[in-house]
Amino acid sequence: MNEGRLFGLGVGPGDPELITLKALRYLRAAPVVAYYVGKDKRGNALTSARPHLRPDQILLPLVYPVTGKKPAPPYDYEGAMRAFYDEAAEQVAGHLEAGRDVAALCEGDPFFYGSFMYLHDRLADRFATEVVPGVCSVVASASVLRTPLVYRDQRLQVLAGTLPEERLTELLSGVEAAAIMKLGSNFEKVRRVIVKLGLQARALYVERATMDGERIRPLAEIAPESVPYFSMILIPGERWRG
Ligand SMILES: C[S@@+](CC[C@H](N)C(=O)[O-])C[C@H]1O[C@@H](n2cnc3c(N)ncnc32)[C@H](O)[C@@H]1O
Repeated sequence: MNEGRLFGLGVGPGDPELITLKALRYLRAAPVVAYYVGKDKRGNALTSARPHLRPDQILLPLVYPVTGKKPAPPYDYEGAMRAFYDEAAEQVAGHLEAGRDVAALCEGDPFFYGSFMYLHDRLADRFATEVVPGVCSVVASASVLRTPLVYRDQRLQVLAGTLPEERLTELLSGVEAAAIMKLGSNFEKVRRVIVKLGLQARALYVERATMDGERIRPLAEIAPESVPYFSMILIPGERWRG
């Protein structure tokens, strides 16, 4: 029997209409649809893809052992995540070995901080694999914030809010343009750095861009405890009056 093929599909930043025609075609053709999801959560990637699914497709949720704040040591967070990704890859491999194609959904783009990478690292050498890019959250956020992000030869830095405060300060000093992702509980630290560097007038905040519940507010008005993981701060490049 022929083995199934693995498709890593970028489903876009949230709005179900922001999926590419190619991803949609592969999504609808696959007998199995795999997606990462937090415990007791609906899963953003699945939520974006759901309007496009057929009723007879097999859903394969890959449920994270931990969601939200990282448990402190002695809990071996990295080890637990590695074991989870191994197990998730074996679940997907089971379907592929049985000859069923698997569409693995990925929020935004699969290779841009996308969790599909962990399946790809484990399975792409074993099974025929294709990756379909998606609209990533950085450009979706710029669209909903109605701000051009970079002009001409400006440099864009993409940073994770999880970086230590000193490193963020170093990287953001003299910045031309930046996207700061992975806010959540890191928001207060990131805002402190932005204020310290005098960047607050340029910084724009959005959460859940293009999803239900999208929210845009001035940075100063955000209550840190309300900030979800799916949020971002953009510092657009200075406008070039072309
Ligand atoms: C693990 S990364 C996934 C990135 C995704 N693969 C992409 O291409 O955009 C998760 C981070 O992406 C950002 N993000 C994803 N979707 C978003 C959205 N709809 N609105 C704002 N930020 C989003 C958040 O900063 C979040 O912490």
